[in-house]
Amino acid sequence: MPSITSLSFFSTVNYASATSPSLPLFPFPRHTCKSKVSCKVGDHNQNPKGNRRDVLIGLGGGLGAAASFTYNPFATADPVVTDHTNCGDPNLPAGAKPTKCCPPNSNTVTDFVLPSNQPLRIRQPAHALSDDNINKYKEAIKLMKALPDDDPRSFLQQGKIHCAYCHDSYYEEGCPDKKIQVHFSCIFAPFHRWYLYFYERILGSLIGDPTFALPFWNWDHPDGMEIPAIFADRRSPLYNPLRNANHQPPTLLDLDWNKNDVDTSGDVEKNLKKVHKFIYQVKRPTCFFGRSFVTAGSLESLHNTLHSWSGDRTQPNGEDMGSFYSSGRDPLFYGHHSNVDRLWTVWKSFGREDLNNRDYLESSFLFYNENKNLVRVKTKDCLDTLKLGYEYQPVEVPWKDAKSSATTSKAQRMAKPFTTTKALDLPLILFEEPVSTVVKRPQKSRSQKEKDLKEETLVFDIQFNKRGDVKFDVLIDWEGNPKIANPKNREFAGSFVNVNHADSSRDTNVKYAIGITELLEDLEADDDDSIVVTLVPRYGRWVIIKDITINFEECENKK
Ligand code: C2O
Repeated sequence: MPSITSLSFFSTVNYASATSPSLPLFPFPRHTCKSKVSCKVGDHNQNPKGNRRDVLIGLGGGLGAAASFTYNPFATADPVVTDHTNCGDPNLPAGAKPTKCCPPNSNTVTDFVLPSNQPLRIRQPAHALSDDNINKYKEAIKLMKALPDDDPRSFLQQGKIHCAYCHDSYYEEGCPDKKIQVHFSCIFAPFHRWYLYFYERILGSLIGDPTFALPFWNWDHPDGMEIPAIFADRRSPLYNPLRNANHQPPTLLDLDWNKNDVDTSGDVEKNLKKVHKFIYQVKRPTCFFGRSFVTAGSLESLHNTLHSWSGDRTQPNGEDMGSFYSSGRDPLFYGHHSNVDRLWTVWKSFGREDLNNRDYLESSFLFYNENKNLVRVKTKDCLDTLKLGYEYQPVEVPWKDAKSSATTSKAQRMAKPFTTTKALDLPLILFEEPVSTVVKRPQKSRSQKEKDLKEETLVFDIQFNKRGDVKFDVLIDWEGNPKIANPKNREFAGSFVNVNHADSSRDTNVKYAIGITELLEDLEADDDDSIVVTLVPRYGRWVIIKDITINFEECENKK
């Protein structure tokens, strides 16, 4: 079988229909709010208040009646707004024990108000926590685990929040057939920030300490590149047996981990170079956070590997950390996400901006607070951690200057032109072997001013089954064996990583975008008419690359 095949063998399939749920490759269900019109302001205006509310209640979800639902004439369903009246059974992966993920019923939902006059909570690295702080954390988790299962603050219920938002339990308000999915999306970062905010406040209130702060798993620093010891002590409430037995401390984390490889330990330099590429080198907010509700940003992509690396591979779906429905059951999850959240603040400290479009800012989620009240929060209220009452203890970021260098110099390339000279027909299916194709650049040799305004962006249109784990790497102008390329090589442009999860919410297609302006400068390829893009499948099956393009707008922070 050829390593890569154009879709010609689907001669009876009109490729334009490949996004349809009837495509035999992807027989999983898909719900969409068919006509966008039904979610627009204009439509709300045509419906009297009472009607719309009745419709929502009539759907009968797990949350009971909407006693305090207030109609907002300015709301549109373009921002993702959680419908608190409608939560159903999750869409679980094969082999998962049946579970429900909706929170306990509440008739009342109140809008979140920023706290005032509270002491600052300082989140510290988990590997350097004082004994006093470790004991507080253990005590708080112990108390959380001792709460009755139906208490929304209990450890069980807190873990379910992740399942509800990641495995199709919630619906979007005004779109009774549209499920919410916070991954592969620009709302990834704000959703998890809020999640940790309430988790931390609940833990603090259980031990009566308003200064209690969640520690972060500082996996981007050499001292934190293993599962922090506090989570690995078998007698501790922070321990969870469902983790990869080969990755117990002191095994060094591998941020370039390939689950098909025999387990090897990571490499500090490679890890730092990978963080440099995924955090420091990503300048534009849409590339960092994700452009839309169906595109993952580099922060989310980088974070995925930690999930897959930590989960127990002997479980059907890599539970707990390796699957989104179960990852909230592992205390390690909250340490991991505290670091993801910290990297957002570190990234901004380099002078970079948050997304500022309305759909993003108005997106909203539901959480129970420390007083067991159901609260509605919006993305726009979480952009400044100080306003939420916490900050991160500053630690060194050794990856900031960890730029990799080119393997092949311009002179070497000129002496021996690339072996790949053709553009492959698209779409193509990625199997097990690497594949290279030439991609034309619409513009070359741009001025610095043009570059400052617009990032040259390599965009992949991808279709794949989100229920499976997937990883492929992207190399640019790479010669030689692609299988040995890694983040230490400048030609290594990025990795596409999926952690299995349900997603019938928006679409089965995603875009994956990588900013390449600086990369091409470093490779001395900025004056070239085209680049050679090599895709290296690492694991997972049936990834369809529908299109590969270069554009200059994908990473703009549009109003
Ligand atoms: Cu909601 Cu780390 O994922």
